[in-house]
Amino acid sequence: MGSQIPATALPDRDSHSLRLSHPTYQEKVATWLLNSKSWGSALDLDSYLEREEYLTKVPLARNDGVTHWILVDTTASPDDRAIYASCESLRKRSLVRTAEGKLKEVICHGIGSVFANPKYRGKGYAGRMLKDLALVLRTWQIEKNVSGREECMFSFLYSDIGKNFYANMGWQPFPSSHISFPLVAGAVDNGHVKPLVCEDLLALCEFDEENIRKSLQNVKNERPHVYLVPDYEVMQWHHLREDFMTGKLFGKSPTTKGAIVGEEGSRVWAIWTRAYYGPLDGAESGNTLYILRLIVEDEQVNEANTQALKSILELAQAEAAEWRCQHVALWNPTENVKGLVGNTKLDHESVDRQSDSIASLMWYGSKDHEKVDDVEWLGNEKYGWC
Ligand SMILES: CC(C)(COP(=O)(O)OP(=O)(O)OC[C@H]1O[C@@H](n2cnc3c(N)ncnc32)[C@H](O)[C@@H]1OP(=O)(O)O)[C@@H](O)C(=O)NCCC(=O)NCCS
Repeated sequence: MGSQIPATALPDRDSHSLRLSHPTYQEKVATWLLNSKSWGSALDLDSYLEREEYLTKVPLARNDGVTHWILVDTTASPDDRAIYASCESLRKRSLVRTAEGKLKEVICHGIGSVFANPKYRGKGYAGRMLKDLALVLRTWQIEKNVSGREECMFSFLYSDIGKNFYANMGWQPFPSSHISFPLVAGAVDNGHVKPLVCEDLLALCEFDEENIRKSLQNVKNERPHVYLVPDYEVMQWHHLREDFMTGKLFGKSPTTKGAIVGEEGSRVWAIWTRAYYGPLDGAESGNTLYILRLIVEDEQVNEANTQALKSILELAQAEAAEWRCQHVALWNPTENVKGLVGNTKLDHESVDRQSDSIASLMWYGSKDHEKVDDVEWLGNEKYGWC
């Protein structure tokens, strides 16, 4: 499928004949087939295609949550056209505290799976697609009469190709560091850590969101602050992906999706997921147990929180070993969390990523003069990844 264009007849990257469009079902499958070479190596091809289709139907993605985009020629017909580049956007909820101090719930779009057919690479097509997309996403899926959908204030992505490519188009790189913990087989059961299962997560996510709203209302400075809402659907999206992958790789899926210690008001808890990028026995697979969200409710650096965090991380390390991940990663820890991690005396390494998963944000803002440099991205943890 897709017409073959001789190299001499390829359109210029700035050509008016190029436009952003949506793939037909056949074209979607064609893009998945092509990009399986980049992102499918943990699964056999059929399973990868099945996963991509499955992920269009999970709660966060269904009902137009996910949109597939392609760069094509205006004159060509669907199912018979060259696809120069492709990507997806995923609509998410976010909270923004504006420079004027107003708290708003708005939508934002996470961009993922940016891909160019190898035979058309290096000709500016991915760049053209993204430039067009940046404009379209400003108003995409805005619904003036639906609460929380009236505005889109930013789009974001996680670059695996360094900081420059997307920054040149306006997606500014934000701090992208993590703490990496090695595997430790065998859970240390000290009796006070409770594993979290899916059924526990909705209440925790709602509690989390309520606190985020309160904390944004207390922000003092006059810069816009953004927070991707770590809601249940976002966590579930990661977990359904994880369950699909582990179902294929292990014939079963893990029920422990995090861990919690303590009583409300001074609890410490983490929600996590396992992600697989390559063969289970591949030394360089990068398969990782990610802490999606870590909450220290009273935000204190003290002995109780140190011991609570230690128990949670030890359970994460044991789970990572059991599910054949290579390490545990905790993205963008706050200064307090760094202090607590240090106090646990657990073996760990701090990594400042330069080329992969670079959190990047384009600000559409509420005022023309506002710049992305003014924006503070809070809670920039792994749960936001897409
Ligand atoms: C990245 C990709 C989408 C670029 O597509 P493209 O149509 O060739 O992109 P363009 O022609 O618009 O731009 C090419 C630029 O991308 C840069 N680029 C491409 N691959 C890169 C990589 N792996 N690392 C860093 N930069 C890269 C090129 O250096 C070039 O930069 P320049 O214009 O400053 O010379 C394409 O190479 C691809 O599909 N790669 C595999 C999937 C992937 O890595 N996607 C990105 C996920 S974040």
